[in-house]
Amino acid sequence: MTSIIETLDAWYAYRNDLKASNVSIGFVPTMGALHEGHMELIRQARLETECVVVSVFLNPTQFDNPEDFDLYPRTLDEDRILASEAGADVIIAPMKESLYPDGYRYKLTETEFSQQLEGAHRPGHFDGVLTVVLKLFNIVQPERAYLGEKDFQQLRLIEGMVDALFMNVRVVAVPTVRETDGLAKSSRNVLLTVAARSKAPAFYRSLTKAPTTEAARNELISEGFDVEYIEDLEERRLGAVVIDNVRLIDNVAIKDTI
Ligand code: PAF
Repeated sequence: MTSIIETLDAWYAYRNDLKASNVSIGFVPTMGALHEGHMELIRQARLETECVVVSVFLNPTQFDNPEDFDLYPRTLDEDRILASEAGADVIIAPMKESLYPDGYRYKLTETEFSQQLEGAHRPGHFDGVLTVVLKLFNIVQPERAYLGEKDFQQLRLIEGMVDALFMNVRVVAVPTVRETDGLAKSSRNVLLTVAARSKAPAFYRSLTKAPTTEAARNELISEGFDVEYIEDLEERRLGAVVIDNVRLIDNVAIKDTI
């Protein structure tokens, strides 16, 4: 079974042993509530690195909405089982105080791309993401870090941060894992009511099948979604919608749309 480390000191002792034996570290940062998408990241890390480390940290600084933070599922026991099944060696689950000894006085801001799409709808979101990922990369010191394409803007911003700050880690992008009806796997899916869950696959359908972003927006509005944005950017069609109070994001390669 995957072991759980809850303090930074215990992690540093573990990491020192790995580094002393030249063991390569593959890192999967998560906020918990693991699902098949995270398991795919862990499996990929398992194939490419010798020690697979998963962080489970529900990062408060990336939530612009306190209710969203409160509702976010917390499932460490189940996370441990799924992480084990996928082949993780260790979970680090640090306390908030240990990751933010400065009380979040220091933060990292990207000033352009982070202000669009998700950033335009969730002020401060990417400051929180980039700051915590920077901290986690410094703490874990992985050779490779595995991130899902589902959070495409996050992925690009983390890649950009690694380049801009000359960080010694290779970011590996892993394709989105979907339910058979096309809905992207997400920790938030468990919050969907039965009715919302049955409507949710229309999001992916419209992203891939509507001829334009405007057509996708209109289709989704007529199906009862609140559409925050649907935009074509960097050869992807990206969107965020809300259905019955649950916010979903997704994106597809434009070459995969009709
Ligand atoms: O994608 C996530 O789960 C989070 O944004 C991350 C990268 C773990 C940072 O908290």
